[in-house]
Formats: sequence, structure tokens, C-alpha cells
Amino acid sequence: MKDKIYIANWKMNITSKEAQSFFDKFERLYKKEENKKVVLCPSFTTLVSSTNSQSLKNLDNIYFGAQNVSDKISGAFTGEVSAAMLEEIEVEYCIVGHSERRAVYNETDQMINDKIKLLAKSGIIPILCVGETLDSRERGESDQVVLKQLSSCLNQVAVSEIIIAYEPVWAIGTGKNASISDISNMNSTIKKQMNKLGYIDDQFYILYGGSVNIDNLSSIDEASFLNGFLIGGASLNPQNFWDIVDK
Ligand code: 13P
Repeated sequence: MKDKIYIANWKMNITSKEAQSFFDKFERLYKKEENKKVVLCPSFTTLVSSTNSQSLKNLDNIYFGAQNVSDKISGAFTGEVSAAMLEEIEVEYCIVGHSERRAVYNETDQMINDKIKLLAKSGIIPILCVGETLDSRERGESDQVVLKQLSSCLNQVAVSEIIIAYEPVWAIGTGKNASISDISNMNSTIKKQMNKLGYIDDQFYILYGGSVNIDNLSSIDEASFLNGFLIGGASLNPQNFWDIVDK
């Protein structure tokens, strides 16, 4: 059985100091659960202090991830952070292709593909976000959009493990969720495409993200085929996040 993965995407929230109090509280709540993994993805500065912090070091099944990485190896790229830099601070996961980066920072599938290749070289597991906008959904093009994102972002990529997070853009931070049948259909679309791209089932996890919280978790979790969740807003509070993991 695959582990269930709960990923906290803190986005541009929680400073290093604030993270310390999050970790202290989370450590008190946390009990290792078989077949469950927790990945915390803070901002870069908080990530550095987090990977150095003793608080969560001794807890099993908790890992750290970055929210972004450069598509370049090294050099004159002001403001960028490379995969090798993340590897050096022992980051194990990295989100790529989040819709906020695609929409606000104009990230293309080609850039995401380059990022994944560099992460693979550094042994960091990519968390690739895919998902359609409201416009594409209304045009009935959700599958087409996600299929294209997967084939372009994973072109010529060889990774032993990858997480695909299906995050419909219209469900992010809006309080709206995709229905179980939407998620289920997309899950089989993603699975088929991953197999077509040469990935065997053991190599990839499929997560759902978009306004997941403790109140709607049970209904989304009916989708028993899901391998976990990518959580934004509801991961900012240790109790809320723990309740989701523990449910
Ligand atoms: P929300 O859970 O706040 O909708 O954010 C989802 C998300 O973008 C996680 O990457």
C-alpha cells in the first residue's frame, strides 16, 4: 500500500520565528501514523531555519520541501535558488509548476521541465502541480490541459519518484472543491498518461489540492484512490493541519 502524503504549502506566509512556534505546537500534537507522511513547504528563509531546527528532527515521517527552484544550474540569475542549494540543506521535496507561479510569474511548461530535470539530478522529489483554469473547465478542456501539462513538464525526464498534485486553479483559495467524480475522472486521466509516459504505478503519487480543510476532507477523502493532499490555507495553523493529517 502506498503511503498517504499530506503536503503543507505555506506560500508566502510564516516567518522563521513564527515557524518555531508552529513546530513546537505541531511536535506536541504529532503522533507517527503508519503509512502517512507529512511534508512541510515553507518559504526559502524559513526552510533554512527549519532544516536546521531541532524541533521536528527526531520525528519520523516528517519531511521538508521547497516551494520553488530555479530552472538554471548556477550563475548570474539574481534572486534564484538552485536545486544544488536545496540539496545542500537536505531538502527532500520541491513543488514545481504551482498555478500561482504559472499565472503570476509566467512560468512555462518548458521551465518546469528544466526544473524537474535539475531536481532529479539533486535527488529531490518533485511535486508537480497540474490543473485547469475555470475558463478551460467551462470549455470542457480540463483533461486536455492536464494531459498537455504532464507530457510537456515530464518530457525526457527520468525520476524514480514523483508526486502529481491535481489542483484545479478555480478551487485554490476559493472555498470550492472539485467533485468526487471530477477528481476520480482526472485521477484516471493522470494515471493513464503517467503510464503512457513510462511511469509504473509505484513511481508516482496522485494528490488533490484546492480548498481542502477539515470540514470538507471527509467527503474528498471518499476518493479512496487519492494518495494524499496538497494543502494551502488550512496548513498554516498547526492544530488545523494536524487534524487533517490525523483524520
Ligand atoms: P488552498 O488550500 O488555500 O486552496 O491552496 C491550495 C494550494 O494552492 C496548495 O498548493
